[in-house]
Amino acid sequence: MIDLTVSFNHIKLKNPIILASGVWDLPYTEIVDFNKLGGVVYKGISLKPREGNPTPRITETPCGVINSIGLANKGVENFNKEVLPLLKKFDTAIFVNIFGESIEDFSRISEKISDVSGIEVNISCPNVKKGGVSFGRDPKTAYAITKAVCKNTSLPVIVKLTPAASNIVEIAQACLDGGASAVTACNTYQGLVIDIESKKPLFDKVVGGVSGPAIKPQALYKVYQISEGVEIPVIGSGGITNYKDVLEYLIAGAKSIQLGSVIFNNPLAPMEIIDNIIKYMNEKGYRNLKDIRECIDE
Ligand SMILES: Cc1cc2nc3c(=O)[nH]c(=O)nc-3n(C[C@H](O)[C@H](O)[C@H](O)COP(=O)(O)O)c2cc1C
Repeated sequence: MIDLTVSFNHIKLKNPIILASGVWDLPYTEIVDFNKLGGVVYKGISLKPREGNPTPRITETPCGVINSIGLANKGVENFNKEVLPLLKKFDTAIFVNIFGESIEDFSRISEKISDVSGIEVNISCPNVKKGGVSFGRDPKTAYAITKAVCKNTSLPVIVKLTPAASNIVEIAQACLDGGASAVTACNTYQGLVIDIESKKPLFDKVVGGVSGPAIKPQALYKVYQISEGVEIPVIGSGGITNYKDVLEYLIAGAKSIQLGSVIFNNPLAPMEIIDNIIKYMNEKGYRNLKDIRECIDE
């Protein structure tokens, strides 16, 4: 029997495959069996509903997508009443990604969240006017937000980092110092699309977030750097499309990984990836993730 379980800092997963925030919503539960997933991160929610950015909000790139959703969501009350009860039906770890425009916002929203496996704190959204990347670039702000959230919750706190930080290792250390249980590395890369007809940026907020295979080597390197430099579990995110990408992330130091835009092209990718990891481990004679790399801290 192959054991795919992972556990770190009170986060326990049946396998290392987590669905990333923002790329799926409830209808996706009809396509993929959530009971088979290690975990899911529900899309960024804020204290109050947010309309998000004007359209267009997403477009393809040669090797992935670029988005400027602007964290459209129905707010934390809606999450608690309408979304969480439906997600709780599945035997998987549920995380919720939270977003605020101030430290106070993060602090207040974290008080309202319970009955999940952890909170993922988004200090890395590239396409919002206030907060987002500007928080995630500054170690003092990253520390202050992490501390404020940890003070208000007993749940594990994961901080989602931006690759736009000039020194992501320093930011990860600040999150550890603030009490984070893990970091996710990383959110989308900042990018631009120009509409050659209007001769203006395609997105209202100009900058978009680049995701997909284009960013895999860069994001993988961030995971490696943090894993080498800071004693904090890292959840890898960026450009994963198949089981070999997952193995690369685990070997680079990630404890688990998140699947994002791959599901736009291949909605069944999570199931295929889990099956292929099992197949690979069987072929190699590996019995657990420790055999691939030291992935389990008990
Ligand atoms: C359409 C879209 C919406 C996203 N929304 C969020 C979000 O609400 N919060 C967040 O932290 N990350 C969000 N992300 C980032 C993803 O969770 C993921 O970290 C990123 O896309 C990199 O992974 P990938 O290359 O596998 O897609 C979003 C990404 C996309 C493409």
